[in-house]
Amino acid sequence: TFPKQVKIVEVGPRDGLQNEKNVVPTPVKIKLIDMLSEAGLPVIEATSFVSPKWVPQMADHTEVLKGIQKFPGISYPVLTPNMKGFEAAVAAGAKEVSVFGAASELFSKKNINCSIEESFHRMGEVLQAAQAAGIPVRGYVSCVLGCPYEGKISPAKVAEVAKKLYSMGCYEISLGDTIGVGTPGLMKDMLSAVTREVPVAAVAVHCHDTYGQALANTLMALQMGVSVVDSSVAGLGGCPYAQGASGNLATEDLVYMLTGLGIHTGVNFQKLLEAGDFICQVLNRKNGSKVAQASCKL
Ligand code: HMG
Ligand code: MG
Repeated sequence: TFPKQVKIVEVGPRDGLQNEKNVVPTPVKIKLIDMLSEAGLPVIEATSFVSPKWVPQMADHTEVLKGIQKFPGISYPVLTPNMKGFEAAVAAGAKEVSVFGAASELFSKKNINCSIEESFHRMGEVLQAAQAAGIPVRGYVSCVLGCPYEGKISPAKVAEVAKKLYSMGCYEISLGDTIGVGTPGLMKDMLSAVTREVPVAAVAVHCHDTYGQALANTLMALQMGVSVVDSSVAGLGGCPYAQGASGNLATEDLVYMLTGLGIHTGVNFQKLLEAGDFICQVLNRKNGSKVAQASCKL
């Protein structure tokens, strides 16, 4: 059985744009987020307060967060890897943040320059400060179905990291198939292990579509009771520290499937398509959503 309702976490403005080589003008980022708000996405990850030396594309985080329209009922979380990022995010008006770790030791080192153990300490500091400020924190775990540096990752390791983030106070744990190598069977085994430690209501999935498995893997997660799904408009996305990883599951494709299954999302499909067309035109790239491509021909 499927959940009656699914919360979509739109990560395009962050995960989608962080991987773009050419710097996207700040007004374009702001317009994209405003269009996604118009489309009724309930959560829109706006930017990340990471080091501009590591991800130059996100250097305008403060301008973006201050410049977007804040629609009532929509949250605009931002990534914060450490206290420096958290403080800057709060100063820019962030009302929700996300911390991010990994189930792979080598990926942790490459992406945030510390071990998994050290990352717990860093994330713990952010969680403590956020708790004191009444700011909810989402937690990401990367490489849950495979790692570009370590290869296979055991479900037990994913469950261990997810449990730790949940016990430290993250209200939701987003499980990232960072390089999109997973298949539904792996997703099932991994989720079985994680949901023994974290309530399924607090679990989200975040599938990249590198191997074309994102929609299938997400469907498996829905069948297992997951009701929060990350996706990216026009299938934008990738991680600069996971070479070759392509975009996320396209939000258009996810909404199309959910609607067909009779699952409520609250998203205006036409406006979502417009947001995807807008950003693809600006980036001069083909829309990564199959549904968007199909709709164009109608
Ligand atoms: P570090 O170099 O170890 O940091 O980087 P440090 O604490 O040693 O500081 C070095 C310099 O960076 C200092 O400046 C700091 O002030 C500065 P300097 O004295 O040299 O002039 N600095 C900062 N500046 C701005 N904002 C900050 C910040 N922190 C330090 N927050 C760090 C450690 C974590 C900062 C770095 O590794 C980093 O920014 N990593 C982020 C990488 C990233 O953004 N990856 C993509 C997002 S994760 C993802 O995409 C996966 C996900 O989608 C899920 C999935 O698909 O699996 C979420
Ligand atoms: Mg990602």
